[in-house]
Amino acid sequence: MAMSVAINLSSVGKTFYRQRGGAAFAALENVNLEIEEGEFFCLLGPSGCGKSTLLHMIAGFEMPTRGDLRVFGERVRGPGVDRGVIFQSELALFSWLTVEENIAYGLRARGIPRKQREASVERYVDLVGLRGHRKSYPREISGGMKQRVQIARILANDPAILLMDEPFGALDAQTRAQMQRYIAELWANLHKTIIFVTHDVAEAVWLADRIGVMTVGPRATVKTIVNNDIARPRAAMTAEFVRIYNELTAELEGAFGVGQGSPQMARQ
Ligand SMILES: Nc1ncnc2c1ncn2[C@@H]1O[C@H](COP(=O)(O)OP(=O)(O)OP(=O)(O)O)[C@@H](O)[C@H]1O
Ligand SMILES: [Mg+2]
Repeated sequence: MAMSVAINLSSVGKTFYRQRGGAAFAALENVNLEIEEGEFFCLLGPSGCGKSTLLHMIAGFEMPTRGDLRVFGERVRGPGVDRGVIFQSELALFSWLTVEENIAYGLRARGIPRKQREASVERYVDLVGLRGHRKSYPREISGGMKQRVQIARILANDPAILLMDEPFGALDAQTRAQMQRYIAELWANLHKTIIFVTHDVAEAVWLADRIGVMTVGPRATVKTIVNNDIARPRAAMTAEFVRIYNELTAELEGAFGVGQGSPQMARQ
């Protein structure tokens, strides 16, 4: 029953060496993590702890200053088509391109022939439910739609791994809930490996198979990993949901070094 490992971090650290003689900043230290193919993994941690830095290293945008970071067994040396990154900001879309042109962008950049490009656009414009808006520009569609365009644009490259950095952070609560359901369905259908960064505890419980809780920096690390076996599709406010929610909240409080939590946070 050995599943294959998609991502492996072993004693990974990241120190930012400031320019012009300033002090170095040890953002991450001794991060050990193994993520299996097909897993939905959430990284949960307080603001500034190093979640984006960790994700950017996996994406190949930043290099670790220590340790070993591998994707499908290969040491990460830079970005690759096996990893697609989805950012929080809709500014990641090209404002001068239509929805379908945005989706086709990566394919065009990689020199995929037109016929094949068009077939991909057809597929992904449907997958994200934007057929009626394919000729629209980003400014003409809502925030949730823009995030779906971003997701479609990345999926069109068919990466095995999706790296998502608080992708729904800028959305209102209702759109956000819709997008959470949507990404959970997408994951169930497409069998991608997803690493999803959030500081929202409920979002992590909605989405993840496992949740890595980070400590505050400097020298932040992934302190605890919490399993989440709740059956899918998930419903809020079940006893199991609340139990894991409380467990994560207590872990996060521990990450801040303020003890074991207030009475209402106590584990059941
Ligand atoms: N290029 C850089 N140079 C120097 N320090 C950096 C750099 N990038 C990030 N840092 C520092 O590393 C730490 C982690 O930053 P990071 O953006 O990864 O945090 P985060 O957990 O994603 O925060 P948030 O939840 O606010 O997005 C912060 O203290 C930040 O100031
Ligand atoms: Mg961040």
